[in-house]
Amino acid sequence: MELTPQTSLLQWYNKNGRHDLPWRTTDNPYHIYVSEIMLQQTQVKTVLERFYFPFLERFPTLLDIAESDLDDVLKMWEGLGYYTRAKNLHHAARQCNGILPDNAHDLMNLSGIGRSTAHAIAAFAYRESLPILDANVKRILHRYFALKERNEKKLWEYAYALFDSSHPFEYNQAMMDVGATVCLAKKPLCEVCPFKESCQGKTDPLTYPDAKAKTR
Ligand code: ADE
Repeated sequence: MELTPQTSLLQWYNKNGRHDLPWRTTDNPYHIYVSEIMLQQTQVKTVLERFYFPFLERFPTLLDIAESDLDDVLKMWEGLGYYTRAKNLHHAARQCNGILPDNAHDLMNLSGIGRSTAHAIAAFAYRESLPILDANVKRILHRYFALKERNEKKLWEYAYALFDSSHPFEYNQAMMDVGATVCLAKKPLCEVCPFKESCQGKTDPLTYPDAKAKTR
């Protein structure tokens, strides 16, 4: 019998997922928040080896950030780049008085937290049943549903269509891992992909989205 794409992904994740990443083994929402902001524009290896732990040691709680000067936060961000992230983190900490909201809707009102990041934090920290839509997931969806055009609103609909609402944590972490290790931009490894049965772009993955298609 053929597995559903969601079951296939879950099995793949159990076997191949990066389960020991420290932001996957914690249930501290603040730690998960910091990891998601760092990982927005920086590779896992760099965050893991040089920035995540020293930052949390210097700022053990979100209140510690709220009560610090921006310059102290920027100092711990030095070398990571994209310093707007640190400024937004500092601003967000003050916006919520150091108390991180416990749901995606309220998280989205904070500086630097867009819809996908809010969904990631809420799914990982609170097990809220919401899909993410970062650059890796967009690439998977473009190929899986054979989508030529880049359309953010439609992509969210497809994100919900493929989502496994019963396993929000595992599904979203698995999608990040498939994007980072299998559904690669230049050389996708379709033979080992959990979606190899049902992916509509498996014969010509590099043609999705259309390179010339404008963003909508
Ligand atoms: N990139 C963004 N969020 C991530 C996560 N939770 N695990 C691995 N890579 C990520």
